[in-house]
Amino acid sequence: MNEAPGANPDAAHRRPRRGGVADGAGNERVLEARGVSKSFQQGPVTLQVLSGVELAIARGERLSIVGASGSGKTTLLQILGGLDRPSAGTVLIDGRDIHGLTERDRGELRNRTLGFVYQFHHLLPEFSALENVAMPLLVRRVKVSQAREQARELLERVGLGERLGHRPHQLSGGERQRAAVARALVTQPKIVLADEPTGNLDGINAEAVFELMLELNRERGTSLVVVTHDPRLAARMDRIYELQGGRLLERAREGAEPLPTTPSSGVRDSAV
Ligand SMILES: Nc1ncnc2c1ncn2[C@@H]1O[C@H](COP(=O)(O)OP(=O)(O)OP(=O)(O)O)[C@@H](O)[C@H]1O
Ligand SMILES: [Mg+2]
Repeated sequence: MNEAPGANPDAAHRRPRRGGVADGAGNERVLEARGVSKSFQQGPVTLQVLSGVELAIARGERLSIVGASGSGKTTLLQILGGLDRPSAGTVLIDGRDIHGLTERDRGELRNRTLGFVYQFHHLLPEFSALENVAMPLLVRRVKVSQAREQARELLERVGLGERLGHRPHQLSGGERQRAAVARALVTQPKIVLADEPTGNLDGINAEAVFELMLELNRERGTSLVVVTHDPRLAARMDRIYELQGGRLLERAREGAEPLPTTPSSGVRDSAV
């Protein structure tokens, strides 16, 4: 199934609502990167990984980020999610400068707004799959019974209904990745940032995980930012970006209709 840009049937969810920032076209921008650069200092050598990345993501938009290994995809995603600081530039989530917040407020904004799927799952080893997935809800003070029920439901949807009590080391690599996806989606976040969420999965499970994210996108207007090496998955998003030489460049989708050019569709070339 190849979905055209704007094929999202529920256009109403793109309308601004409390907390969001509307652009001129009335779209709510849920995430924005302005002039984001990142360098790492290794002794005398400065490694410039990101150079002036610009990005604007509207509510309900789906985009993928591709790029060679080492091009900075994980680095960018972590900065967008407030997990790492940029060397320069700002990241606005729901209109708030995430790196300007206190640690506590940043954590709160992340829990309320973001679902993050790490490249290497980061499940808590001492907890079961069910407990790991329920955790973000418990942080939000959802009742334990309700949190466990929602976690169970999502784990069933990613095919782990028979593995609820397994701890991460008792799960296969792909099962851990699916549990991590369930954990990112359980709070029904406004934005999902996913770093190769299907990297360890066979075709059938990759499809199930991807379909789950797309469902959330359709039903809830969740914005998706997915780093993937899978061109078929990338092609199912509204926009494809490539990281190259520290710049984020928009790529035409194969067989896609012309890309929207409204301000909310972000920049075509971040080399500004
Ligand atoms: N903490 C760090 N200190 C120094 N260099 C780092 C650090 N983190 C990342 N790098 C370097 O930054 C570059 C980008 O890394 P990153 O993990 O973002 O790449 P990636 O595009 O996600 O690659 P992959 O597809 O292999 O996951 C790499 O060359 C890496 O060595
Ligand atoms: Mg990576």
